[in-house]
Amino acid sequence: MNKYEELMARKNEIMLKSVGIDYDKYEDGKLSFNYEKLMEDIGYSLEEIESIQKEAGVGNTPLLELRNITKLARKVSKTGKAARIFVKDESCNPSGSFKDRRASVSVYDAMKRGYKGVAAATSGNYGAAVASQANIRGLRCIIANECYDSKKIGQPEILEKGRKCEGYGSEVLRLTVGPELFYTFLKILEETGYYNASLYSTYGIAGIETLGKEIVKECREALGKEPASIIVTHAGGGNTTGTARGVIKTGAKDTKIIGASVDLSGLHMASDIDFNKKSFTTGHTGFGIPFMTNPDRSDVPRSAARPLRYLDRYVTISQGEVFWMTELLAQLEGLERGPAGNTSLAAAFAIAQEYDNEEILVVQETEYTGAGKHLIPQLNFAKKNGIEIFVGNPMDQIPGKNIILPSHPELVSVKDMDMDHLRNSYIKNSLKKVADNKIQDIDFDFLVDETKLSRKDVMKILKENNIQIE
Ligand SMILES: Cc1ncc(COP(=O)(O)O)c(C=O)c1O
Repeated sequence: MNKYEELMARKNEIMLKSVGIDYDKYEDGKLSFNYEKLMEDIGYSLEEIESIQKEAGVGNTPLLELRNITKLARKVSKTGKAARIFVKDESCNPSGSFKDRRASVSVYDAMKRGYKGVAAATSGNYGAAVASQANIRGLRCIIANECYDSKKIGQPEILEKGRKCEGYGSEVLRLTVGPELFYTFLKILEETGYYNASLYSTYGIAGIETLGKEIVKECREALGKEPASIIVTHAGGGNTTGTARGVIKTGAKDTKIIGASVDLSGLHMASDIDFNKKSFTTGHTGFGIPFMTNPDRSDVPRSAARPLRYLDRYVTISQGEVFWMTELLAQLEGLERGPAGNTSLAAAFAIAQEYDNEEILVVQETEYTGAGKHLIPQLNFAKKNGIEIFVGNPMDQIPGKNIILPSHPELVSVKDMDMDHLRNSYIKNSLKKVADNKIQDIDFDFLVDETKLSRKDVMKILKENNIQIE
């Protein structure tokens, strides 16, 4: 065995030491595991999480009505109607994004269990959140950041996020795209004995539940009704999962959860050539689809982010439309915010037009902006990489070839992804674990829960794949 294989063989042991969760305990079928039990065993109630967050300056962010953007949506909507658009201003969290909610619980847990430091593998915002929370709790912090192509060139946005982590005094390992990240991260955990503040652990996901709860509570109290929909910027699926779980816990049954990602179809995330051809570093389909259809590809054995359980709808929006929305938000509402939150906002602008005026649509986050995160350095970088940038119809966009800023607000639209196709892919990926074409009842129930499909539909997919139930 070479060094890489040796380290990988010790993966489970390293994970157990660094997250303190014995994932094997939850394995119960051939492909299933007890998700709800894993989430219950976290040991902190939602109320306890709220007080952990309050102590660390996290949460209770303002819910702002975007009156001028709503007005514009009504002007261009075919029916003259559009729901009221609100945004939860998550940039008001200590490190400037909802990721503080996620980091706050993990870092608190690390402190309580006596770890000296925390480590996280991240594209950036989460790193800043972990670094910031580590400072509040007096722990050391190491961030592994996949930020360069093989020529050591990185996008302004991702470099900006790395600088921010360093600004908090954490150690940042800047890595090139590819399998290096997971190997390096495991090595860090083994060598330092630090806590794995994984984006995908139960702690991180439970930390986001407060966001869903706040949204519903504030809408009920201030507006006298629940939101018709909440639009969530979607990448690895933690944001969607945590928000939806919080919404469910408040008893808001009719609120729909809509995930929105930037359309980067055709670009390969692990490809060195494509790495700098995308102008968004998170909230895009390059994470959204692989993690949705195979959630356990993350840095813990079982991801607590299970988006297909919660999504009512998943839409994409083009890069140009998100850049356009970033400008619009600043100019019409006086809010200069970063790209990830503006992804769901751009989608909300189109989706609001499907609803009546009195309905409420909540975009569940903003993120901070500044320096490299700003749209001008990102667009300049794209130009340098041969991407054509022009004003026109975003429908004509080709990710990696051009970025089209909409010439009229009427042209802003979302594309609905085929949820059944995604669910089908999820089941097919899960079945790869099954060697003998037979699963158990418990696996069948698990697949129904994981996909929100009917029992009949799951059975049909199983039959198509020659799978029997033992
Ligand atoms: C500000 C912001 N919004 C949304 C997301 C997407 O969250 P998730 O990966 O949990 O889907 C990210 C993730 O990197 C983010 O940093």
